[in-house]
Amino acid sequence: MPEHKQFGTRAAHAGRIDVPTTTRPVSMPIYQTSVYAFPDLDLVEAVQEGREKGYLYARNGQPNAEALEVAYAELEGGEAGISAATGMGAIFAVLFGLLEAGAHAVVTRDIYGATYALFEQQLSRYGVNRTYVDTNDLGAVAAAIRPETKLVYVESISNPTVKVADLPGLAQLCRERGLKLVVDNTFASPFVLRPLEHGAHVVISSATKFLGGHSDLMAGVAAGERESLTKIRQALVLNGAMLDPFAAWLTVRGTKTLHLRVERQCSNALALARFLNGHPKVEVVNYPGLAGHPLLRNGAGAMLSFAVRGGLAAANRLIRGLELAEFVPSLGDVTTTVSHPVLTSHRAMSPEQRAGLGITENLVRVSTGIEAVEDIIADFDRALSGV
Ligand SMILES: Cc1ncc(COP(=O)(O)O)c(C=O)c1O
Repeated sequence: MPEHKQFGTRAAHAGRIDVPTTTRPVSMPIYQTSVYAFPDLDLVEAVQEGREKGYLYARNGQPNAEALEVAYAELEGGEAGISAATGMGAIFAVLFGLLEAGAHAVVTRDIYGATYALFEQQLSRYGVNRTYVDTNDLGAVAAAIRPETKLVYVESISNPTVKVADLPGLAQLCRERGLKLVVDNTFASPFVLRPLEHGAHVVISSATKFLGGHSDLMAGVAAGERESLTKIRQALVLNGAMLDPFAAWLTVRGTKTLHLRVERQCSNALALARFLNGHPKVEVVNYPGLAGHPLLRNGAGAMLSFAVRGGLAAANRLIRGLELAEFVPSLGDVTTTVSHPVLTSHRAMSPEQRAGLGITENLVRVSTGIEAVEDIIADFDRALSGV
């Protein structure tokens, strides 16, 4: 800024430089700007029409979010992707993008509590009808389909009882009946399971969990066929739940080590599940790796749950007794954490609904971290001895 301008003018415009583009920064810069400047109206029009690549206003798209969207679509094998401020932001965009008043969805009974609340408390107000079924019973899914059904919604590995969805069977049924199969892949992560490879149309993840991996961000992503993703993006942009540049940047950084973290987290989960299985203070252990499952690769995921003998009081004593594993109503961190679905993630469901799904007051959910497995097992061993 020329020196003959007033101090305040120079201050307001200070630091405006053109960054040379001959070399590429190895770590993508954080584009901490809400808006982009245009030299003239010709370029505005060209960018709006898609003739020139450029960014306009960060709610419509920005480089860090786009980097994450490309990364997630690539890891899941999708044609296109979107990112949102949270996992629920992504689920909201998917459901509002693909459903309308009068439409019907067949939804898994084994569903994250907030997604259930989104269907029951919000989509219901806009005239979207829902039927909840055991989506691994393909006969029940087929029987629930109506002429106005638009999609089937499942979790690849369910929260919190870690049931693995029959994705090939559901995908075939959806293809035959002209429906979209939408899969929340948060618990598995694309390292363990890639629903699009089994015929799903749209896959969603709360990137707050394994993709981010360090409990330091909130983000959501979705990927899949371009036609659906275009509608989903329109819903997302108008809903305004866009991801901010720093959270997008952090998520991409987390994603680079997803395979290393989750590989270790899966082997730790298997060892812990084997330890808990048959333990005298444990009634039941849910972990798909105990019996093995053909859809899961690179391990059976880092999520397990178990029922401790002695009801809610015993679960409370266990949680108090754990030293390494903290009670955290989230998952996917590099440290081992535990949660209590009845009091947190599945609060929105009635006690009868929860009981039907095996979500009991003594159920503790575990997200295994990357620590030395001996230390994780010793922590649970000691805490269980005090239950
Ligand atoms: C399976 C599943 N899907 C979606 C979400 C929502 O993600 P977020 O908390 O990032 O909105 C969660 C959060 O716990 C979850 O467990």
